[in-house]
Amino acid sequence: MYNQRATILWNHQVGPAHHRIGMGCRAEFADAVPGQFVMVRPAGRQGPLLRRPYSIFNPIEEQGRAVGIELLIKVVGEGTGQLCGLPPGAAIDLLGPLGRGFRVPPQMRRAVLVAGGIGVAPIYFLSLAMVKNRLPAKQQRVYIGARSDQELLCLADFEALGYPVTCTTDDGSVGDQCLITDPVEALVAAHRPDMVYACGPPAMLACLGGIVEKYRLECQVSIETMMACGMGACLGCAVPQRQSTTYLHACQDGPVFDWAAIDLSVERGV
Ligand code: FES
Repeated sequence: MYNQRATILWNHQVGPAHHRIGMGCRAEFADAVPGQFVMVRPAGRQGPLLRRPYSIFNPIEEQGRAVGIELLIKVVGEGTGQLCGLPPGAAIDLLGPLGRGFRVPPQMRRAVLVAGGIGVAPIYFLSLAMVKNRLPAKQQRVYIGARSDQELLCLADFEALGYPVTCTTDDGSVGDQCLITDPVEALVAAHRPDMVYACGPPAMLACLGGIVEKYRLECQVSIETMMACGMGACLGCAVPQRQSTTYLHACQDGPVFDWAAIDLSVERGV
């Protein structure tokens, strides 16, 4: 884990409230595992007191050398608004890489990658790593759900890597007007994958969890939750452990968990 004052390389708005922010930082950040995250705040007094957690979206390389990371951020409040308002050259306080990322078992051949909303960030990083590890993109399936075409992110990026992509939207502006879990279930019922990877809102994960339990599939999910410290000190990121009264912590035990290890039911959910 490193704490560094990094520099913004670019800040591109890619949706109504979405930004891709590239930042130059030490190479160790780009060596992160997909699913790991960083804690970020603008450097100096103008920033909010606490850092915010963001999944690493894309390691940045120049001539084969790691030079930084890119984050995909949605403006949802003051902290994200300040971050997304920073120009190239601005300094940010960066802590990471943190947490445990996705595991890709050596015997895995066919995976289903499911992303909802801004949850596409770690899923895209995972898709990059799978291609790098010579898993044929055409044998995998990517599913992206969004509210509308305006909020549908990274479709072209996945397609550029060779992944077959299915999209759904709440308003029907792209793909079918249904939950993204509907076409996922149709696929896994016909072609059993070796692994399901997912990141998205709790309702999507709960629905997907029902499907993986029904078909007895292996599944890893990245949990989006509030984090104050990112290092196991505040205990504010508790995730109920399945068949237990104890809790795991998203910042240290996750944010990626085996679906079978956690309990996101409404009664005990994060
Ligand atoms: Fe503080 Fe996890 S964010 S313990």
